[in-house]
Amino acid sequence: MTKNFFNNKSFKIFKKGEKYIPGLVQTFAKNPFQFSFGFSPIFLNKGKGCYVSDINGNKLIDTIMGIGPLILGYNNKIINKAIKSQINKGIIFSLTNPQEVELAEILNRETKFDMFKFSKTGADVTSAAIRLSRAYNGREKILSCGYHGWHDWSAASLKRNNGIPKYSKKIIQKFEYNNLKDFLNKVDNKTAAVIMEPIIFEKPNLKFLKTIRQITRQKKIVLIFDEMWTGFRLDIGGASKILNIKPDLVCYSKAIANGMPISVLGGSKKIMNLLDKDVFFYTTFGAETLSISSAIATIKLLKRDKVLQKINSRGENLIKNINKLINKHNVTSVSIQGYGSRFRFILNDKKNILKTFMHEQYLKNNILWNGIITLSYSHKNKELKKIIDATDKILKKISKHSLSELNYQIKGKLIKSRPL
Ligand SMILES: Cc1ncc(COP(=O)(O)O)c(C=O)c1O
Repeated sequence: MTKNFFNNKSFKIFKKGEKYIPGLVQTFAKNPFQFSFGFSPIFLNKGKGCYVSDINGNKLIDTIMGIGPLILGYNNKIINKAIKSQINKGIIFSLTNPQEVELAEILNRETKFDMFKFSKTGADVTSAAIRLSRAYNGREKILSCGYHGWHDWSAASLKRNNGIPKYSKKIIQKFEYNNLKDFLNKVDNKTAAVIMEPIIFEKPNLKFLKTIRQITRQKKIVLIFDEMWTGFRLDIGGASKILNIKPDLVCYSKAIANGMPISVLGGSKKIMNLLDKDVFFYTTFGAETLSISSAIATIKLLKRDKVLQKINSRGENLIKNINKLINKHNVTSVSIQGYGSRFRFILNDKKNILKTFMHEQYLKNNILWNGIITLSYSHKNKELKKIIDATDKILKKISKHSLSELNYQIKGKLIKSRPL
């Protein structure tokens, strides 16, 4: 039976939302056209563990997890307790609060960076890192690899970059991940900072990363690791710890507080201390205590229960099983890339027919899927088995039909490509 994910109720709220909110959403990954419009749910309103409910009461296994933050899962008792206990004491104070120091001390112990500043969004801290780098070496050019947020300097390198001064567009250059030649062609003595996601999905080439570290050190360029995804997911100390490559500055957010809005800039004393001199980075809600207490409780739990080792090993097992199924059904248009707790499906189809088909089929199996599987501690054997069973059925169908036949079975609109 076809489930009722999209109906009059959701369409009415969608129409009202479009009237009052440009594009309806606050972040592009939630845009209804990133799903199968006319078939998929648009609004979620409840979550427990790794399950979410849409506004029509459909319960789904979530494989998106708030686009990264929910490392433990929705509505976690221990984290809720920490937040509630802090609510009773105060959300924000007129002077600084000791928990800021406690969190900084924990981060120092766990990540081995010297000093930290707290803010709200990923873009806040990547932007602060860029400003610090420029102040440190007096240069302006940025080399970037990956996505780093919506602020001018970063969005200047995206496709959707209207409203940004020409200067910002000139001053940033992208280089390709694992392409050392591309990096070497672009790095020079005018470069202030190299900012990169140390691991995205592709397996990291150690020579590529180590050479970047070596050259940035030689040329006095600040190396910034954007560990928004990998920090507190791949390892508490992020990719930098796993790879044993230490950048000068590091940026964390997403999983660090299981969904509460906090981002962290960390780094070496000699650069970070410029924030107490003439580099300006201050924000009212940087010291908001609910997020800070949630981060402390999350990190303690990640450590106590060895959560990340467990998620990543479960995820590696899931990848192994999906790869077996791809081979079993001899599907050449689908492959997997990434690490246990976050991996993507590479689909050989530019029109998004496969992606839309798979998304709808996963929904029919009560799984919310957007092409990337982001796991949490709440995804246990039961849920992983459901994902494997659904994938088996979906790959079987893909193996038996042409793209146009699959397209014919799609109920909603084809998923739109991202403007990145
Ligand atoms: C790697 C990376 N850096 C930076 C950001 C920007 O973070 P925010 O959206 O919190 O500003 C994101 C957001 O998804 C990200 O994935």
